[in-house]
Amino acid sequence: MNVSVKFCGIDFPNPTVLASGYLGVTGASLANCINNGAGGVTGKTLFMEPRPGHPNPTVLTFPGGLINAVGLCGEGIKNGIHEFKKFREMAPDAPLIGSIAGKNLKELIEVAEIMDTYPVDMIELNLSCPNVDDEMGRPIACDPLMTRDAIKAVRKVVKKPISAKLSPNVQNIGIVAKNAENEGADAITAVNTMGPGMLIDIKMRRPILSNKVGGVSGMALHPIAVRCVYDIYKAVQIPIIATGGIMNGKDAIEMILAGGSLLGIGCAITANDLNCFTMITDKIREYMKEEGFTDISEMVGLAHEI
Ligand SMILES: Cc1cc2nc3c(=O)[nH]c(=O)nc-3n(C[C@H](O)[C@H](O)[C@H](O)COP(=O)(O)O)c2cc1C
Repeated sequence: MNVSVKFCGIDFPNPTVLASGYLGVTGASLANCINNGAGGVTGKTLFMEPRPGHPNPTVLTFPGGLINAVGLCGEGIKNGIHEFKKFREMAPDAPLIGSIAGKNLKELIEVAEIMDTYPVDMIELNLSCPNVDDEMGRPIACDPLMTRDAIKAVRKVVKKPISAKLSPNVQNIGIVAKNAENEGADAITAVNTMGPGMLIDIKMRRPILSNKVGGVSGMALHPIAVRCVYDIYKAVQIPIIATGGIMNGKDAIEMILAGGSLLGIGCAITANDLNCFTMITDKIREYMKEEGFTDISEMVGLAHEI
């Protein structure tokens, strides 16, 4: 059973990839995910300057998953190089995706130019964080035309493969993905968190997150994410990193059948610890054996066949 995936020319030994924002701040924690079975890893989103993010509380659990308003805290692209180098020392051949964003298009281009010189295999453009609207306005990926302009501008300065990370909070995600493809995106990552949502402390009678609202991930996001991947697969030819509430093997297989080639894994880590990468890959292998598939690529997008 072959579960390895060639994605934008990069060899992933299995389809599981650490999603951005989970354990992605240090080279050692990224390498630890590889040692625990992840096929590849994505770093935490980096801006040009260091960002403190929102004050606590920033992450809450609820029965449907997580709600977070971390606010894209990070050490800034220039400081980030040390951690990428450390990761490369610890995991020289493992696929590494660098995630970036900008306060505006000019900054996004500048950060992209710098990330292109780093030892990453691919660059993910986080166009879709729902927790920083107050500061930066509506996420780029919520507007097909802004998405088109962002990809066009970044494509001009970046040689490495780029993946556009999209938002589920749109009317027609297929159009957004198509615009990204038309302007030279090599892949789509779908999706970022949904919402924003809110949880209220009934004793305090006020929202619990300091930011009041936050992005929803995990189980509650999963059916929306499956539909988004399905719609994107119909709209574009470029491959998809399917992300959103993949908690177990069944969720992962659904995403592959919807059209995902790689699988972004985030919330499952909080529920199952780092064993989730191996657990999900083993379940995919088991399913392939039961259903008579020999190569994982045979399964991609099969839910589209009538
Ligand atoms: C605490 C937290 C921090 C996150 N930080 C980032 C980030 O820095 N960049 C990004 O693109 N996505 C970020 N995300 C979104 C995840 O990468 C992922 O798209 C989302 O959580 C859905 O996947 P999941 O349901 O498996 O967690 C974050 C999510 C959480 C819960």
